[in-house]
Amino acid sequence: MRDHHTDQQNRTRLTRDAIAKRIADSPYGNNGKRWAARWLDVESYGQVGLALFNLPPIVERAHGDILIDVDGKEYVDLLAGFSVSALGQCSEEITAVIREQAGKLVHYFDLPHPERIEMAERLARICPIKGGQARVAFGVTGADAVELAVRAARYWSGRPIVLTAFGDYHGVTYGTMALTGKGGMWPYFYPVLPLDTGVSYFPFPYPYQSPFGRAPEGEDEAAWCLSRLEDYLSYFLESKESPYREVKSGITSVAAFVVEPYQSSAGYILPSPGYMKLLRRLADKYDILLMVDEIQTGLGRTGRLWAVDWEDVEVDVLITSKALGGGLPLSAVVTRSEVLESWGPGAHVSTQAGNALACAAGNRVLDVISDPAFLAGVAERGAYFAAGLEELQRRHPLIGHINSQGIYIGLELVRDRASRQPAPEEASFVLEECVRRGVLFEKGGYFHNRFQLIPPLTIRTSSVDRVLAIFDEAFSAAEKRFGASS
Ligand SMILES: Cc1ncc(COP(=O)(O)O)c(C=O)c1O
Repeated sequence: MRDHHTDQQNRTRLTRDAIAKRIADSPYGNNGKRWAARWLDVESYGQVGLALFNLPPIVERAHGDILIDVDGKEYVDLLAGFSVSALGQCSEEITAVIREQAGKLVHYFDLPHPERIEMAERLARICPIKGGQARVAFGVTGADAVELAVRAARYWSGRPIVLTAFGDYHGVTYGTMALTGKGGMWPYFYPVLPLDTGVSYFPFPYPYQSPFGRAPEGEDEAAWCLSRLEDYLSYFLESKESPYREVKSGITSVAAFVVEPYQSSAGYILPSPGYMKLLRRLADKYDILLMVDEIQTGLGRTGRLWAVDWEDVEVDVLITSKALGGGLPLSAVVTRSEVLESWGPGAHVSTQAGNALACAAGNRVLDVISDPAFLAGVAERGAYFAAGLEELQRRHPLIGHINSQGIYIGLELVRDRASRQPAPEEASFVLEECVRRGVLFEKGGYFHNRFQLIPPLTIRTSSVDRVLAIFDEAFSAAEKRFGASS
């Protein structure tokens, strides 16, 4: 069959020669290079690891906050399997639960079992659902939970439109692709278009690189950015020319806001304070659902159980996954009871949903992270890490901006602090230097210039210190190579 690649697709396409060069230039040992060659002989070139790194290490073992590759080299883990291993890799308590459950019941279709029922009860109790009466539906991955939640919102409300923010990430299945309005995702799927035409977008209040431009002199930039968003959304929801609402009759076609409280895949960006409160107020005013995707921000990552807890906001729908299964695939949608009560039996089914092993591990995760002392420890460890980064910022002008909440940390690299001109090449260089020296994390951001630091919530002080020392060396190397920015 003919290869239909267009010029556009060829720009991101890897050739076999490029792959061979990445392997040859990589900082890994002989075993790592051999395994990488085997890997890339058979797996897709669309692997996310080839986008995040020149070449990811081939990790063989891990414990706590340390990953060990096939050559025995150690890396401090600042990625936690992309927020999955919140309690660290192979933690003894989770491993013990999985062993025990594996001797009882591994999985039995999408049917009830005690671990699953217990987890549903706990999620219903600990999620900040408006009105207090909650109901749960299980899934396997983040994206399938988002799909289920959006379907439920539309079914319950009888309305088709959902609103999300540019830069949000909610998955890349056919059902979620339209909701992932994140920089440059859609061209990868070209010529497959996002098929959900009932999705519309608004700018995310990202104060450091505000979509509304720089705040006027003397204004608080976060507050200013949020007030521009409020104007925008009000226009969207009630202007006479809005396609979504007929002002005179008061009818609307909007079912829900579907949002990340903080934008994770887009760079671990904290929005202007008050973002959730603003959406809650508008959701109440226009009688629409507030649905939050806490797949990354939830389960203790920010030092509270849920990111929306920081603004004391109750939501209509909350979606959780990643850390929920203690490393095993599991997701859940938690809604105001009446939303899921509107569905008849059989409205949703997924063979692997609510897996018994994952629920057993997840119940243990919930035990640990619901403990206020554990959450206080997350806040403390995050503050220690952030203070170390701020100290580095004083010496390395490349670090333009740091935002952190608990152990949810984003770092923005700029060429010039006054203009905030992004420094994407420098960011790639520093990342590769860090991988070489034994620290693993992800780089992303609207301008490819943000470091996304999400280690296990249990990260040790000694590991943070090791990371800070390696960052110091890597930033110095970048300044030598690119010249010091200002
Ligand atoms: C906020 C958010 N929502 C949804 C998803 C999709 O989850 P999954 O990859 O498990 O489908 C992700 C994945 O990174 C995510 O970060």
